[in-house]
Amino acid sequence: MLLNCIRLFVCVFCVSYYTKCCVGQFINFSNYDTTTSPPLPFPACQADDLECLRRGLRTFFFLMESGHMGMQSVDPMLLNSLTVALPEEQLSFLMRRINVTGAKWTKLAERKFNLPGGKNGVRFISNLHVTGEITMMTAARIDPFFARITMDIQDVESNITYSWAGQRGFDNEDYIFIGPERVAVRNSRTPFFFVQSNNQEDTTRMEQVLKARPTFLEHLSNEITIALMHSVVDNFRLFASKNYVNFNIDQLSIALDELNPKPENRQLNLFK
Ligand SMILES: *[C@@H]1O[C@H](CO)[C@@H](O)[C@H](O)[C@H]1NC(C)=O
Ligand SMILES: *[C@@H]1O[C@H](CO)[C@@H](O)[C@H](O)[C@H]1NC(C)=O
Ligand SMILES: *[C@@H]1O[C@H](CO)[C@@H](O)[C@H](O)[C@H]1NC(C)=O
Repeated sequence: MLLNCIRLFVCVFCVSYYTKCCVGQFINFSNYDTTTSPPLPFPACQADDLECLRRGLRTFFFLMESGHMGMQSVDPMLLNSLTVALPEEQLSFLMRRINVTGAKWTKLAERKFNLPGGKNGVRFISNLHVTGEITMMTAARIDPFFARITMDIQDVESNITYSWAGQRGFDNEDYIFIGPERVAVRNSRTPFFFVQSNNQEDTTRMEQVLKARPTFLEHLSNEITIALMHSVVDNFRLFASKNYVNFNIDQLSIALDELNPKPENRQLNLFK
């Protein structure tokens, strides 16, 4: 069955994968296991070909959106609640029913292999649109202030690093195991926001506070972006656990260490 496999794609996060199902150039339907997935339109990319990797990322987001292999869509992504507080000012914000859209247009800005500690990294740029309910609690008024809010988070940069290791599966194929990820987020500008409520006083007061202390919006938008990126990596982890790579993992590690030319010259498909 495996002989029928063709190389299907290079995932943008990692290296070349085969899907488990193996539909070859000559499709043999009697061989085709419908419980596994059909072939995926991933391009085969060189490590330095950012445009190609970007197309791979598009495909990956499309697969997440379609719930491929049990992956969870991240566009829209719903979050229950987030809190940001400035205790010294006795001021806090609670955001609820958060609905984040736009993740699927996330752009790949940079892809790094062999970071210190053998980690891999990706840098993403996203534009996100957020809606939700916001409650402001102050020391000055017992009743909280309440409004609906929309936020536009523009060009937020996420820097994701993760460790990875090869693992031989029960099926004797090599899989990439993705370790815990670290997500650092940088916002180049304060998000645009708009608050709306039935109570004009609440609206005005919240607008004033949010304008005077952009750090609240920045914190909220960073937390939202970090949650989003953890979901993306969770999906990728699931994906990697179900799709084996098309080379021996030990060979890859040795090749990366020994060959180790400038990372930008490294061709992933050397190892196929
Ligand atoms: C399809 O695969 C089966 C099982 O390996 C094999 O018996 C059959 O001859 C194949 N058919 C074709 C058309 O290749
Ligand atoms: C989230 O927002 C999108 C776009 O506005 C909308 O289509 C979707 O229904 C919303 N989801 C929920 C659960 O409110
Ligand atoms: C991204 O993470 C890497 C590794 O942790 C670090 O070297 C780099 O400076 C970070 N870049 C930004 C913009 O945070």
